[in-house]
Amino acid sequence: MMHLTGVLLLLLVCSMVTNADSVCNHCMCFQTTVNCTARNLQRHFNDSDWPSNMAVTDMMFDNNQVVHVTQYPALSVLRLSLSHNKIVRIDKAAFLNLQNLTELDLSHNLITSDNLFADVFQGMFSEIEYQPLTNLHTLRLGSNAIHTLKSDLFEHTANLRTLTLDSNPFHVIDQETIMALSSLTFLEVLDLSYTGLKDLPEYLLHTPKYLKVLNLTGNLMTKVPAALEHSHALEVLHFCENPVVVLDHSSFKSEMLYLRELHMSNMESLIFIASGAMSKLTSLQELYLSHNPRLSSIDPDAFTLRREGEESETWPPIIKLDLGHNNLGTIDRHLLGHWDILQYLILAGNPWICDCENQWMVSTLLPSVENIIQNQMNSLECVEPEEMRGRKLHELEVLNYHMRCLDSAGNHPEKDAKLLIGILVGVLLAVPITMAAILVFRNSRFGSRFFSRGPADYSRAFYSRADSGEN
Ligand SMILES: *[C@@H]1O[C@H](CO)[C@@H](O)[C@H](O)[C@H]1NC(C)=O
Ligand SMILES: *[C@@H]1O[C@H](CO)[C@@H](O)[C@H](O)[C@H]1NC(C)=O
Ligand SMILES: *[C@@H]1O[C@H](CO)[C@@H](O)[C@H](O)[C@H]1NC(C)=O
Ligand SMILES: *[C@@H]1O[C@H](CO)[C@@H](O)[C@H](O)[C@H]1NC(C)=O
Repeated sequence: MMHLTGVLLLLLVCSMVTNADSVCNHCMCFQTTVNCTARNLQRHFNDSDWPSNMAVTDMMFDNNQVVHVTQYPALSVLRLSLSHNKIVRIDKAAFLNLQNLTELDLSHNLITSDNLFADVFQGMFSEIEYQPLTNLHTLRLGSNAIHTLKSDLFEHTANLRTLTLDSNPFHVIDQETIMALSSLTFLEVLDLSYTGLKDLPEYLLHTPKYLKVLNLTGNLMTKVPAALEHSHALEVLHFCENPVVVLDHSSFKSEMLYLRELHMSNMESLIFIASGAMSKLTSLQELYLSHNPRLSSIDPDAFTLRREGEESETWPPIIKLDLGHNNLGTIDRHLLGHWDILQYLILAGNPWICDCENQWMVSTLLPSVENIIQNQMNSLECVEPEEMRGRKLHELEVLNYHMRCLDSAGNHPEKDAKLLIGILVGVLLAVPITMAAILVFRNSRFGSRFFSRGPADYSRAFYSRADSGEN
């Protein structure tokens, strides 16, 4: 009897010891969240360390030193995050027991292409699909060392909706990667920002026919990829920080029926947006075109669409427009069809030219958008011409100020006018003086000799004209 009690006691002590080692003693367990962020973990917990009856939905293991991901025990977790570790290796079927897993974050690790196999994402046996991780819809692989994806990588994760591959050294989307991405029929969000890409393969976006959001920020693209023409449902495009110099009618060649949000900011090289550059974006509602330090000109017809055989012009139905912090001196009043439907407008941080061509900004635009640019009023300033420098557009509006016209060289026309009058007076005075001088000269002795040198020529001319007149 004593012996048995001793064994039981020992078992109890043992289980207490394991409990002391359990996840919730190392990490913060709160309701259904296990937060192991920044706990200096170097490896996974053993299966026995997990609370057996906990209904965990969120597990965070961010900012640790985990190198090797091994298979997790059966847990009800929905979201698992392992970002900012030192993960190099992930075991086959590591997530197989996490049947309800919907989001997996493996970003900011040291995962290479060679260590990223389809088997890593292997799920349970299924009769209809190939061992799927059925519920996984978000996979984050950003900031690793991936330069290509194996063509079968997503064979167990066919239901992915969101895939982030940003900040990996792809440089080019090769054939294997195209095949891998093409297998994601239901993909809606793809992040390829900061991946060193110069272009996209032409048919990359053809298969993922539900793709809505594409992030191409921070690449090396000198033009908008033609591959976008083959997307079917693209609604949001992030194209900031690409070395495009000019946007023109070839930038968006065919109509993009669903694109409603476009980001083209922080474009160091962009200087000009030409006629028709955005006129094919017939559903565009939000345009973020800011912090482009060299962007000094947008053609008045940049958005205007004239369809063949139709007289009328149409514009994208833009309601949010950010033109802040560019190098724009003027905006044309015909840039948009309706300025008064704007719900959001940023104009601050541009070197506005305060002359008569921009008068409409002061007297028409500002009054109609007053309530949405209220907080920018003090940042809308004249930079040119000289005598207007530093004046606030808003003050000019209040004063009902009429700005002067500059000539094409940006000179002061009032000074030119003085010059013109001077010249005119000079000419008017010069004519009689010259006439008088000629007369005086002619009548002088030297003069008469000079003029008498060729009287024949004059007479010949006079008579020949007179002859033809008589005939
Ligand atoms: C998880 O823990 C970290 C560090 O202790 C803390 O900064 C973070 O806010 C926590 N997150 C949640 C969702 O509780
Ligand atoms: C898991 O168990 C092994 C021995 O079975 C032990 O060495 C290791 O420290 C345990 N891991 C953790 C995180 O407790
Ligand atoms: C997954 O979720 C369902 C329903 O919420 C639940 O019944 C099941 O036990 C969960 N699976 C796991 C492995 O926890
Ligand atoms: C696009 O990528 C940038 C940089 O990675 C990121 O800040 C931004 O949130 C991304 N946007 C979307 C919609 O994914």
